[in-house]
Amino acid sequence: MRTHYCGELSKDNIDQTVEICGWVNRRRDHGGVIFLDMRDKRGIAQVVINPDNADFELAESIRNEFVLKITGQVIARGEGLVNPKLATGEIEIVAKNIEILNASKPIPFQIDSTDTSEEVRLKYRYLDLRRDEMQQRLRLRSKVTHFMREFMDGNDFLDIETPFLTKATPEGARDYLVPSRTHPGEFFALPQSPQLFKQLLMMSGFERYYQIVKCFRDEDLRADRQPEFTQLDVETSFMNEDEIMSMMEEMTRGMFKSVIDVDLPDEFPTITYADAMNLYGVDRPDMRIPMQITDMDELMQGVDFKVFSGPASNDGSRVAALRVPGGATISRKKIDKYTKYVSIYGAKGLAYIKLNEDGPASPILKFLGDEVTAKVIEMTGAQTGDIIFFGADKTKIVNEALGNLREQLAKDLDLFESEWAPIWVVDFPMFDANDDGSLSAIHHPFTAPSVDAKTLEKTADTALSRAYDLVINGSEVGGGSIRIHQVEMQQTVLKLLGISDDEAKDKFGFLLDALQYGCPPHGGMAFGLDRLVMIMTGSDSIREVIAFPKTQTAACLLTDAPAGVPRKVLRELSIKVSLPEKD
Ligand code: AMO
Ligand code: AMP
Repeated sequence: MRTHYCGELSKDNIDQTVEICGWVNRRRDHGGVIFLDMRDKRGIAQVVINPDNADFELAESIRNEFVLKITGQVIARGEGLVNPKLATGEIEIVAKNIEILNASKPIPFQIDSTDTSEEVRLKYRYLDLRRDEMQQRLRLRSKVTHFMREFMDGNDFLDIETPFLTKATPEGARDYLVPSRTHPGEFFALPQSPQLFKQLLMMSGFERYYQIVKCFRDEDLRADRQPEFTQLDVETSFMNEDEIMSMMEEMTRGMFKSVIDVDLPDEFPTITYADAMNLYGVDRPDMRIPMQITDMDELMQGVDFKVFSGPASNDGSRVAALRVPGGATISRKKIDKYTKYVSIYGAKGLAYIKLNEDGPASPILKFLGDEVTAKVIEMTGAQTGDIIFFGADKTKIVNEALGNLREQLAKDLDLFESEWAPIWVVDFPMFDANDDGSLSAIHHPFTAPSVDAKTLEKTADTALSRAYDLVINGSEVGGGSIRIHQVEMQQTVLKLLGISDDEAKDKFGFLLDALQYGCPPHGGMAFGLDRLVMIMTGSDSIREVIAFPKTQTAACLLTDAPAGVPRKVLRELSIKVSLPEKD
């Protein structure tokens, strides 16, 4: 239908007669002359409709977002009329013939306005996606998957599909269940990841597998989590963690270079989980921020300030300090706001010392005394003009409070030192202890420990795993591990997780069987595609890089899913719904 794309017209096309198709981005009347900004997937070009045009009357009926085909002649814009903001700003098209391919009702919001609520944008997502920003993001996403496929294919990985209707694959979230009509009372689980299937593919001898695949997790949602999201899922045999990490690093570097022309470092640094937690309070440290947390346990054990001396002396608690360069100007009111912010993580207060021109100032100086204060300043390396914040509580609370405060302060005070900072986090513990003393897997139950089964049983609470996470700019963009490839070890780990032999057989019997028929050593990794694209496009949420995302309450405003179904359908599925009574 067209000879040219709007966005590609230039001075080279002057005098040519062109046919363009697209949407009316904006229509303007200028004293008898009508201007249309015509938009297609490549950009915008200006069309002029003069009053002597036979279609002028028709043109007067045109409104924004009508779909048109226009035939016209490209001319140079007059002196002073060039629009340097528009790629096609040097030319315009004088319309000869106008065809309305379709009209549009007045749209519920101005497409390119930035103050439309997300709710409205998601309800009319098909209109929201017409926005240039959304078009760019999804185009970039497609470039990312294209690069991934090329890289994986080029390295002899095979793209193999795995089932969606399957049995639970535990990754730490709840499952989405699908009732089976043919097996009344029974359910499929949508996979939280293809973890077990990709391991089985290694046992089948494929050696290198990948898939760009949807995963489903019914978990509490945040800006970087969706109930269905996409992974680049990878598994290999006969490669150790260094080899896998190095290959995945190469892919990441190539992808950043090829898609957004960013040079990531030749070698990504590595940090242990323990150091990440001690120094940055989180297991996904944002290394663009130079601030570190300083441990104060030893120094604070003897002080006459119970808020500090208690946690300093207790196992499982800590006192730590965060020096903020240039933070002495933070107002009392702002400090109160930060105190409220850390309370989300359970912190009971946010003690501080300001280093003013005339010396340290703080409500807690009287408790600490000059000597300890001087030591704090020395240990944190603080200088005049800085502020030092303190956390004192259970280690988990202090780490979360100071770790998140560090990131918030970096945003508020613009303390980022670099634009891109990838880092591998390694040496994760195998297990996390729950409040009731039971253990949960930190990665998933198929991750290999770095010790043998006997040692693992004796040191379960401290043993490390052979897992690795890739963190870029404070976002966990991928994670993986070397897997357990021997049945005895798998049984030991399931036992330590409190899974009985019967339950293990019921849930993972097929895996335990398969491990006994010549399973090669194997390992792999999965990248969160949405998160990667989110950070590569500088978006605030993964919803901005998914064409049709769900809301924070896991609903689709466009289709109104989830929704009830007719009784007849439920009967066929042998399902009776019983909702809790309303108050
Ligand atoms: P994991 O659970 O760490 O590992 O997931 C891998 C990566 O997927 C992304 N991700 C998410 N993205 C959006 N929304 C979510 N709800 C969500 N959950 C996870 C993250 C994460 O790093 N099978 C293992 C991988 C392996 O061991 O090979 C797994 O799924 O970026
Ligand atoms: P208080 O003695 O409770 O008035 O606290 C004195 C200072 O210590 C205040 O600035 C509090 O915000 C701070 N503070 C209290 N509890 C904690 C805590 N657990 N961690 C860090 N600071 C705290």
